[in-house]
Amino acid sequence: MRASIHVDARHPGVTISKNLYGHFSEHLGRCVYGGLFVGKDSPIPNVNGMRTDVVEALKKLQVPVLRWPGGCFADEYHWRDGIGPQENRKRMVNTNWGGVVEDNSFGTHEFLELCRQIGCEPYINANVGSGTVREMAEWVEYLNSAGDSTVAQERWANGHREPFHVRFWGVGNESWGCGGNMKPDFYANLYKQYQTFCRTYGEDRLYRIACGPSGDDTSWTETLMKEAGQFADAISMHYYTIATGEWSNKGQATVFDQAVYDSTLKNAARIGEIMDAHLAVMDRYDPKHRVGLIIDEWGTWYDVEPGTNPGFLYQQNTMRDAMVAALTLNIFNAHADRLVMANIAQMVNVLQAVVLTDGDRMLLTPTYHVFDLFRPHMDAQLLDSAVFADTMAASGLKQISASASVKDGAVTVTAANLSAEAPAEVLLSVEGCEGKAVSGRILAGDPHAFNDFDTPDAVCVADFTDLRQTERGLCLTLPPCSVAALTFRD
Ligand code: AHR
Repeated sequence: MRASIHVDARHPGVTISKNLYGHFSEHLGRCVYGGLFVGKDSPIPNVNGMRTDVVEALKKLQVPVLRWPGGCFADEYHWRDGIGPQENRKRMVNTNWGGVVEDNSFGTHEFLELCRQIGCEPYINANVGSGTVREMAEWVEYLNSAGDSTVAQERWANGHREPFHVRFWGVGNESWGCGGNMKPDFYANLYKQYQTFCRTYGEDRLYRIACGPSGDDTSWTETLMKEAGQFADAISMHYYTIATGEWSNKGQATVFDQAVYDSTLKNAARIGEIMDAHLAVMDRYDPKHRVGLIIDEWGTWYDVEPGTNPGFLYQQNTMRDAMVAALTLNIFNAHADRLVMANIAQMVNVLQAVVLTDGDRMLLTPTYHVFDLFRPHMDAQLLDSAVFADTMAASGLKQISASASVKDGAVTVTAANLSAEAPAEVLLSVEGCEGKAVSGRILAGDPHAFNDFDTPDAVCVADFTDLRQTERGLCLTLPPCSVAALTFRD
């Protein structure tokens, strides 16, 4: 198949917020415990309890923002249970996720220490479903107040004299479901009440994020925008790719046929249409686009790996997931004018994770490598790009997905060949980049290929050197199921 990609580098557009490359970590399965945090006394190398190997890998990815503590867990989380001396912390049952005992050894200070080590900004999701306005308001005060109120003094006593300066603040999670099974007008009223008490301390005005819709439920967005849009900085939505389209039979992460591969990508691509539908509703109430859209949970969701706790949502991650990630991130870039943040679910050991761990072992998934290839897009300016490629009959998608940006004079084009079988001969022309040198990196493999703990580098990024410069542009062959990043610089 022959395809072409045309990029116009002469007129840089909006900035692609680095926060579109954000992550999500929940007290779920082995995401926090074992994946990110092992405790100071663990034989696994750590700094203040955070796994050194995992933190180093995440630092390389330049993770910009991390959402915590949930997810459904957020609406059962009481922050005071997770501060102060470890021996006094409350033990609770994590009723959402596997019924395991949560000992609260990872709490507010540990989360902020993790963010400090990774170098990312925290995004805290507050409890509306089973909390109170006062509880939430005091959490904000505890985090951000520089005064000497009793609540701020508690923070000093726990070893942090300076405020934490937290900015991103979610008010409830999936309030239409696990966060309280609310109707949109009920939530809109509650949101207005809660956000009133999201106080500003010093310069730390909170960026208030209202709980938005599930998938394509535009009626939730309609009510929320109408009743409470003026009180929000952004609304969040969630979208998961279910390979088969059936929640009751999601299929396995590593075992799938061609038809399921095709439906996975087709379902993944729906995120673009769904965003557009919500944005159209938001536009009616907010024509000046003051309110941003956030997708603070996205990714593939399969049946758990055989033999693992069904409540832990542990799944492997193949080149199929890499294709979902590349397709999704290209779609996010194209929506950079309205999308202000996105958070893949989840960071480690849960759903479409970028890192998997097993005891003291760690591996990087194909999805990690896609985030690595897309790194240059963070805080770069979007460039107009057009893809001319055949449509794949089974999924209705173009065989090639691409986006382009420019930062500090360097133009980056990310292009994925979504076909599981057919290579693509691509002609890439970039107007305004004449005379620049080009370099490339590529991730390619069988759709079923994955990294395991014995062969952690079975799928990894390689230099992409087979680039032929012609008068019409750059000629390259994208193997089936591959994603490349090409950079043009002086
Ligand atoms: O990411 C797993 C769960 O999916 C989250 O806890 C919840 O918000 C969503 O339903």
